[in-house]
Amino acid sequence: MRPIGFVRSSYTETAQIPKGLGAQHDAEGTLDILPEVEEGLTDIEGFSHLLVIWVFDRVAGYDLRATPSTDTRPHGVFATRSPRRPNPIGLTVVQLLRRDGPRLHVRGIDMLDGTPILDIKPYLSSMPAKRLKREWLAEAEARTAGEHA
Ligand SMILES: C[S@@+](CC[C@H](N)C(=O)[O-])C[C@H]1O[C@@H](n2cnc3c(N)ncnc32)[C@H](O)[C@@H]1O
Repeated sequence: MRPIGFVRSSYTETAQIPKGLGAQHDAEGTLDILPEVEEGLTDIEGFSHLLVIWVFDRVAGYDLRATPSTDTRPHGVFATRSPRRPNPIGLTVVQLLRRDGPRLHVRGIDMLDGTPILDIKPYLSSMPAKRLKREWLAEAEARTAGEHA
């Protein structure tokens, strides 16, 4: 695989990116797509949200258990969104604000500046919210809400 483009964001260090329960990801940035694949953006303007598949290019190695910033307990890496994964692939849903040729202006960035993008797909949500289960995360949210009550 090779990058189809790169993220441009204001984040130069991981510490600048909001983390933990209730973190809001409303940072704006751009997805700068390489000229040789720009034609692949044809008709993308019609979608409000996109799935961005990208590389955690600034991690080395992985852990099969991770304690996310959203919880105090460890979980299997595939039950988390930890950057330290056997294949360091990230997935972010962003809102498409506008397109300027090969540049997509988006909101919802949680990637460092310069992050390589592997793919972009339209976000087509088909799962009703009431059918979604998110066990450990829901428990962590309930515990935190209890602590702050
Ligand atoms: C918890 S991960 C979630 C990323 C994505 N939404 C996902 O679910 O795959 C987000 C964190 O990845 C880290 N990160 C962002 N860009 C990175 C990069 N290019 N290389 C390594 N780590 C990165 C930052 O610490 C950021 O807070």
